[in-house]
Amino acid sequence: MPTFVPIAASGDIPPGQARAFVVGDREIAVFNVDGEFFAIENSCPHQGGPLADGFIEGPVVTCPWHAWCFDVRTGEMTLAGFTTVDTFEIQVEGATISVSDEPRT
Ligand code: FES
Repeated sequence: MPTFVPIAASGDIPPGQARAFVVGDREIAVFNVDGEFFAIENSCPHQGGPLADGFIEGPVVTCPWHAWCFDVRTGEMTLAGFTTVDTFEIQVEGATISVSDEPRT
């Protein structure tokens, strides 16, 4: 059963930006896409690049290391569909953002 862990205030992550958080033994990147929050694992499946530090355009983040691109809403790679990143459910209550400590299945 996943647990939702409070990680930030919603104002801490402005639209078009992301931040990484350690939740248990995972590092999770949380993105603000036009006021809606999405969470994916922070480690790129290519060589582990920090996706929260990537270039963000709309719902797509480009890995800062070698430019693999992912849709943060689904975790799917956008240019070629041979890999994905895990996604995590987000809850926003008042001004508090919480993230699931387990990926979606
Ligand atoms: S580590 Fe992300 S594209 Fe290489």
